[in-house]
Amino acid sequence: MAQHMHVNTPLLESVNMSKRVGTTVYLKMENSQPSGSFKLRGIAHLCQQLASRSKGIVCPSGGNAGMAAVYVARKMCLPATIIIPSSSPQLVVQRLQEQGATVKVVGKDFEDAKAEAFRIAETEGLVYVSPFDHPLIWQGHASVITEVATSLGPNVKPGAVLISVGGGGLLCGVVQGLKDVGWVDVPIIAMETVGADSLNASVKAGRIVTLDNITSEAVCLGAKTVCKKAFEYTQSNEVTIISELVTDKQALHALETFLAVLVGKPRLPGPRPPPPAPPGGHQGVLRPAVRHNPSSVSEVFPGAFSRLAMPREASGRHPDEMPKPPQLAPLDVKEQRLYSELLPDDRAPHPIS
Ligand SMILES: Cc1ncc(COP(=O)(O)O)c(C=O)c1O
Repeated sequence: MAQHMHVNTPLLESVNMSKRVGTTVYLKMENSQPSGSFKLRGIAHLCQQLASRSKGIVCPSGGNAGMAAVYVARKMCLPATIIIPSSSPQLVVQRLQEQGATVKVVGKDFEDAKAEAFRIAETEGLVYVSPFDHPLIWQGHASVITEVATSLGPNVKPGAVLISVGGGGLLCGVVQGLKDVGWVDVPIIAMETVGADSLNASVKAGRIVTLDNITSEAVCLGAKTVCKKAFEYTQSNEVTIISELVTDKQALHALETFLAVLVGKPRLPGPRPPPPAPPGGHQGVLRPAVRHNPSSVSEVFPGAFSRLAMPREASGRHPDEMPKPPQLAPLDVKEQRLYSELLPDDRAPHPIS
């Protein structure tokens, strides 16, 4: 069997998050993957199985899947074509090109990019790499849970696993991983932002729903339609999946708090101490997890926010031992807009009702 390309990432107990939510919180540091996110696990596994003798790969993506695909292609000495929709920031094009990808900007959203990627795969004889919808992708992602089980050791299991959902590939991989290690009684808290809530809308409707548009700021992560398998898992008795929503503002607030407590200083202009926990209550995206099962929570760290998140060098260390971050790049226009529009000067926490 080919050697896997992902790294075994650290599972860190976050003292600060644990204090804030009143239960032990572990972070699976997927931002320390060579491509910057967990996507590498599944995409590398799929390419190793299907693309080793191919002419190259083509992947539609607005972000982390594309970064993983181009990393894998480089390691396998294959050409990579990444199709991205015009909604993706210019920075993404630049990053992909720097990594050696041929980048094509096609259409206005992921569905347009996907159609073009299918067309190119067919006409140019390339292997189509889905960012989230393939059993081999899920099998690769499942390793995240087997690693958690190894890190926690025998007889320890999390009270819940909290992940974010775009197209549902990570969700399917986590379900598979939980089955692999015999943790089917561990609930999954599946988080989405309002406006990128294709799983939540489908769960509410009891059938797969396609959103008209992604209206959340999480454009690179959101999919208008969640993959069929992810929806099926929500309807089955095999595992418990709790679908929860937060607003963009809540997600950004959680991220800002994370940066403030973990990296040691807020990235935003002006002095800003981390906000205190509300009296007698939990807040932020972990609240649903704690409400459901207060014993302990394990979160797959959202590398999608890697540009805003901790420096790579710090990822192997305990949060309390974190060094001061190196000089960070200035905020780009999109980030400035996000902060000015979504984080106006009311800095108070916004608990989830
Ligand atoms: C960091 C991160 N977390 C979660 C997701 C959602 O993954 P999926 O599309 O497999 O649901 C993505 C998707 O791009 C992502 O980049």
